[in-house]
Amino acid sequence: MKTIIITGTPCTGKTIIAKKLAKKISYTYIDVNEIIKKNKLNNKYLKKYDTYEIDDKKLNKKLIEIINNSKTNIIIDSHLSHYLPKKYVDLCIVIKCDIKELKKRLEKRKYSKIKIRENLDSEIFDICLVEAKENKHKIIIVDTTKKKVDKSVNEITKKI
Ligand SMILES: Nc1ncnc2c1ncn2[C@@H]1O[C@H](COP(=O)(O)OP(=O)(O)OP(=O)(O)O)[C@@H](O)[C@H]1O
Ligand SMILES: [Mg+2]
Repeated sequence: MKTIIITGTPCTGKTIIAKKLAKKISYTYIDVNEIIKKNKLNNKYLKKYDTYEIDDKKLNKKLIEIINNSKTNIIIDSHLSHYLPKKYVDLCIVIKCDIKELKKRLEKRKYSKIKIRENLDSEIFDICLVEAKENKHKIIIVDTTKKKVDKSVNEITKKI
């Protein structure tokens, strides 16, 4: 069975692409947010950043369990998915977005100023891409700034 992970800064467009891609190539879409809630991996609320601290190690363990037990090919959608060890992952898609456009998308979500700043910094410093490279994943980079979602999905499909 194959495993594709989709990572990138929040609001770059992971979910919208992951769901369409999964449908197109008949992979099962794995919603990591649901797994986090179901398994109570969001142990601590960080008020300053208006976000939950996720236990990366426990999440990895749970995801590896899902990968090992899966009877279908899967797409894992999460900005934490690239922490998975390379041996469990066939392809890592890193979704990117221009800073100005990303700011607009984050503001639309009514995130706090500090949360918007954090996410923009994360995109500026390419944190997900740098970490995915550190983990030696096979990477495809997709920029969603101007492209229609379908175009991004077609582009990925050709490269798989
Ligand atoms: N290619 C695109 N063109 C225009 N808008 C887009 C595009 N991709 C995503 N968006 C918009 O950006 C917002 C965020 O998209 P999405 O929820 O897929 O991001 P995400 O990376 O999954 O975020 P999170 O990490 O918080 O789950 C949505 O409002 C979506 O409509
Ligand atoms: Mg999402």
